[in-house]
Amino acid sequence: MGLLRVEGLSKRFGGLRAIENLSFEVSPGSVQAIIGPNGAGKTTLLNLLSGLYVPDTGRVAVDGHDLAGRPAHRFAAAGLARTFQNLQVFFNMTALENVMTGRHLRESQALLPALLRLEPMVWAEHRSRARALELMQQVGLGAWTGARADAMPYGALKRLEIARALALEPKLLLLDEPAAGLNPTEAREIDALIRTLAAGGMTVLLVEHNMALVMEVSDRVLVLDHGTKLAEGTPAEVARDERVIEAYLGVEGLVTESATEGAAQGTGGTLDMRGALDMHGTLGNTAPAARQAGGHA
Ligand SMILES: Nc1ncnc2c1ncn2[C@@H]1O[C@H](COP(=O)(O)OP(=O)(O)OP(=O)(O)O)[C@@H](O)[C@H]1O
Ligand SMILES: [Mg+2]
Repeated sequence: MGLLRVEGLSKRFGGLRAIENLSFEVSPGSVQAIIGPNGAGKTTLLNLLSGLYVPDTGRVAVDGHDLAGRPAHRFAAAGLARTFQNLQVFFNMTALENVMTGRHLRESQALLPALLRLEPMVWAEHRSRARALELMQQVGLGAWTGARADAMPYGALKRLEIARALALEPKLLLLDEPAAGLNPTEAREIDALIRTLAAGGMTVLLVEHNMALVMEVSDRVLVLDHGTKLAEGTPAEVARDERVIEAYLGVEGLVTESATEGAAQGTGGTLDMRGALDMHGTLGNTAPAARQAGGHA
């Protein structure tokens, strides 16, 4: 049974069908990626899956709890935590304080015992701080604990958001483009971090445009296009799916002279998803060769 189960989910904005009758599951302990062109509905989906948007129709179950349309804190209480495509960091706080805000829900659940003096508040605070420090080490931010967030580089802030999400001690972690805007070295660090989390049993649902990362870390990939499921399977399966190549690389007109050049140079033999689908990368250079390879598959 899926840790996350989505059935018939739909969300419209006026006349725009951002998510249309979408169903899928995420198995416990797996890493699932959601890919798709800009505007495909990926962030809208994460917003529906974390209680920020109310769906028009459909069901969302987290760990057996039916939560569609419930507020975000109910999703969090069921074991879901997330990061945002656009950083949601408290810039006037230190890095450690940012991570500790993630523990708020857990600690507020422990409020009753604290009020009853079963556990002094000061102990809870101490425990919370110790765990936040541990998480900062885990995401590679051990050197930044006392820094104010506004003094931290972008790559570190992306990891700070992950640490804050982990502070909720989730079963299911949703990441919206964790590698966006990172250089290749930083992206590999995110790659390593996701693998470490997965090895520790975390279930991860990841939206990402960096195909090298997607191919590397995912057990399964779901491809969204215009709010619907275009394809789903292992990274290798979706990489050779004609419809996926079509959705990313578009119209026939993309096959230009450079396609022939690519084929002549021997680059057209296999589909290199890493280049072909990296929409923030060099689509123009790799698309024609990839399309040709796909066409012969
Ligand atoms: N709050 C909103 N109100 C109206 N339209 C919205 C809203 N949120 C998203 N949309 C629209 O829904 C569609 C899907 O947007 P979404 O942000 O989910 O795409 P995405 O796949 O995350 O794209 P990207 O890869 O660029 O992040 C887009 O056409 C977008 O303009
Ligand atoms: Mg998005």
